[in-house]
Amino acid sequence: LPPSPPAAPPREPPHVVVFPFPAQGHVNSMLKLAELLMLCLPGDDGLRITFLNSEHNHRHILRCSDVSSRFAGRPTFCFKTISDGLPLEAPRSMDKLLGMLSYLKLKARDVLAELTAPADGQSPATCIIADGILSFVIDVGEEFGVPVVLFRTISACSLWAYFCIPRLIEAEELPIRDMDRLITSAPGMEGLLRCRDLPSLCRVTDLSDPFLQFVTIQTGQSTRARGLILNTFEALEEPVLDQIRAHCPNIYTVGPLHAHLKSQLSAAGQVPTRHSSNSLRKEDRSCLPWLDRQPVGSVLYVSFGSATVLKRDQLTEFWHGIVNSKCRFLWVLRPDSIESHVGIPKDNIDAELQTATEERGCIVEWAPQEEVLAHPAIGGFLTHSGWNSTIESITAGVPMVCWPYFADQQVNSRFVSEAWKVGLDMKDRCNRKVVETMIKDLMVGRRDELSRSAVAKANQAMEAVSEGGSSWDHMNRLTEDIRSMSG
Ligand code: UDX
Repeated sequence: LPPSPPAAPPREPPHVVVFPFPAQGHVNSMLKLAELLMLCLPGDDGLRITFLNSEHNHRHILRCSDVSSRFAGRPTFCFKTISDGLPLEAPRSMDKLLGMLSYLKLKARDVLAELTAPADGQSPATCIIADGILSFVIDVGEEFGVPVVLFRTISACSLWAYFCIPRLIEAEELPIRDMDRLITSAPGMEGLLRCRDLPSLCRVTDLSDPFLQFVTIQTGQSTRARGLILNTFEALEEPVLDQIRAHCPNIYTVGPLHAHLKSQLSAAGQVPTRHSSNSLRKEDRSCLPWLDRQPVGSVLYVSFGSATVLKRDQLTEFWHGIVNSKCRFLWVLRPDSIESHVGIPKDNIDAELQTATEERGCIVEWAPQEEVLAHPAIGGFLTHSGWNSTIESITAGVPMVCWPYFADQQVNSRFVSEAWKVGLDMKDRCNRKVVETMIKDLMVGRRDELSRSAVAKANQAMEAVSEGGSSWDHMNRLTEDIRSMSG
């Protein structure tokens, strides 16, 4: 008899390490992805997930969200923490970003090395899903023979704008000379993007600017990853996704993640009783009973995300504009959202504004945003156009007024108004008259037209995450690929 072939080595169970950049918009969506993976690759496949959280964020998320109860009793999921280099209680402002990235790069190699070859008999990592701005993880993966898939937390349209930066420089469209000139060297975006709609970090005179360099390099590195996960859906961004696919052929569009998670939970017979929260700040739920008392579609929701900092005069202009629009409003004002001030400065807010706010407004420091956007009283959203907020608003069918603050948000707001037609772009303007006019257009004048397209986009989003929809299918492909990586 011929000798029997050597027995195949035992198959490692899939063990995915999920590693977000430590900021609210990144942790939120990557935790949702981790939860989705657990649903789609259930325990009988032996899937393990290790979520690598910064120590600072881990403390905050345990204190402020329902993460500990959601993940309790799931032995296949664990958090591992890593220092981001700053003292635990220090604020994580934008000016600390590059320093945090360098520190993480230094620290993460050892932590990932330990996860790929654990000394404690645990199963080794078989795949790393890293934040797209942590592309150094690709080098670590190559060093230890573990495939790395990147997750970019931004829209496909802003990612494509980042991809085009070298072309824009080559074509001398950067540095910007005229903010209103239409750009010509970003394929698929001609006739749509003006220079002012490019990511805000393009607004520099010196092309060696460290932020511009950083984002351009990170984006170029995406092509080296095994795949690229995006929190978007095909019907929304297909033309731009086709452009990106020419550089990164293996894209998984699995969004909108929060809606996808609910869809998969229902399919698994685990209908969530309420929205899950991945907040790093304590949500003030008192705004929900306040919303219950307001007429359908009457309230403007105002929130500028987790990192925007308003100047004092911008706060005043917004406040006047919102009050003068005569709308009811729910406004998220984080205590750290006003420049050089902790808390909401009331000293330069006149009595008339105070009274109008008490009559028609509700101000909270942090809201359960997904629940707010899904509330029938909400008729519009004044937003900074962060990608999570944008896709949450699209999914809820809520039209927007966009006041983009920085980075990817400038691109998102242009697509919201000119490509998807689900809102109005207030970019680069912040005076009370413009704020008032735009809100009135959103809530009254152009309400029907904007609501119609918002509802149509929301329906497409729900289709994408339903069984057989594009995001559902991409999730199946992602889980199959993760399985095969462990074989
Ligand atoms: C930033 C970028 O702008 C964004 O495009 C990128 O993808 C991640 O980093 P951020 O400025 O925080 O994020 O905005 P956004 O992406 O909109 O994320 C904010 C998140 O916080 C959303 O998921 C939103 O639901 C949540 N949020 C916001 C709350 O839960 N409560 C609030 O009161 C405000």
